[in-house]
Amino acid sequence: MKILVTGATGHVGSEVVKELQKRKADVRLLVRKNGAPTPVGVQAFVGDLLDPVSVEKAMDGVDKLYLLNAVLPDELTQGLIAYGLAKKLKLSHLVYHSIFRAEHFKDVPHFAAKLAIESALREFDVPFTVIRPNYFIQNDATLKDALTKTGIYPMPLGPVGISAVDIRDIAEAAAIALTSDGHLGKTYNLNGPEVVSGPQAASIWSKVLGKEIRYAGDDMDAFEEQMRKRAPSWSAFDIRMMFQGYLERGFIAEDGDLATLTNLLGHVPRRYEDFARETSLNWQERSKAA
Ligand SMILES: NC(=O)c1ccc[n+]([C@@H]2O[C@H](COP(=O)([O-])OP(=O)(O)OC[C@H]3O[C@@H](n4cnc5c(N)ncnc54)[C@H](OP(=O)(O)O)[C@@H]3O)[C@@H](O)[C@H]2O)c1
Repeated sequence: MKILVTGATGHVGSEVVKELQKRKADVRLLVRKNGAPTPVGVQAFVGDLLDPVSVEKAMDGVDKLYLLNAVLPDELTQGLIAYGLAKKLKLSHLVYHSIFRAEHFKDVPHFAAKLAIESALREFDVPFTVIRPNYFIQNDATLKDALTKTGIYPMPLGPVGISAVDIRDIAEAAAIALTSDGHLGKTYNLNGPEVVSGPQAASIWSKVLGKEIRYAGDDMDAFEEQMRKRAPSWSAFDIRMMFQGYLERGFIAEDGDLATLTNLLGHVPRRYEDFARETSLNWQERSKAA
């Protein structure tokens, strides 16, 4: 049973590969560059999701696919190329990495792309499982300077908050869906165990770092302007629309989501505060070593 993993050099994909290896799965990676870092004993095929010829070669002889697409203006095309080839080659199972509440965020480009890919999955006949993660807890590992230097928690999570999820739980859920029975046709919402609002995130970091961290607030124009300094403007717009949607429509786990994920994983999903402690220790160790 060979499983092809896309996005395998990224945050989630690399964790999915580890989880598949723990389960002794036969894994093949789709990577874009020769020499991309790959775990020992794992086969890598060089290809690009915008190049169907390379993807078909990578998919040849494969039984299952873990499909994760990067957030890009052509995400929909990349996803449908992989999906169309999975259909052509009659793969026995596709686990699609989508996003929580996609149908409520049709004005957000990377949600709309995923909703369209999900609708193709649901229309045709490749056996599938959809995983729909909330905001990744690990996104906040990039906030070191804002938190430790400026003393600000900058992500506009709003006063109500979100059920942020740890990528290690996402990876475990994906690997379980790919290597055990009972997941065909299922859609799993992947949420963390607690709701984290903007002010709560600031207060958690204050406690963990032992200094006052202020919440930057929910000024979306200011947030998009800041985002444009470190990302292309289409991406800054896309992310702004996502956070605006969190504020307007909410991004909190639905009834039963936590029980379903706990049952799937065999443990309660990881907490934001534990990630914050772990990350702060890593930052301290790295600055001691530097
Ligand atoms: N961040 C969140 O809070 C959140 C929440 C829910 C869902 N999501 C979804 O999760 C996904 C992002 O996951 P991630 O953070 O693990 O991604 P990531 O770290 O940005 O990695 C993206 C992966 O896609 C690969 N890739 C990019 N373009 C490609 C192409 N043309 N052909 C083949 N591979 C290509 C990259 O390869 P290279 O190494 O070669 O660049 C990399 O392996 C997105 O779909 C996002 O919408 C994110």
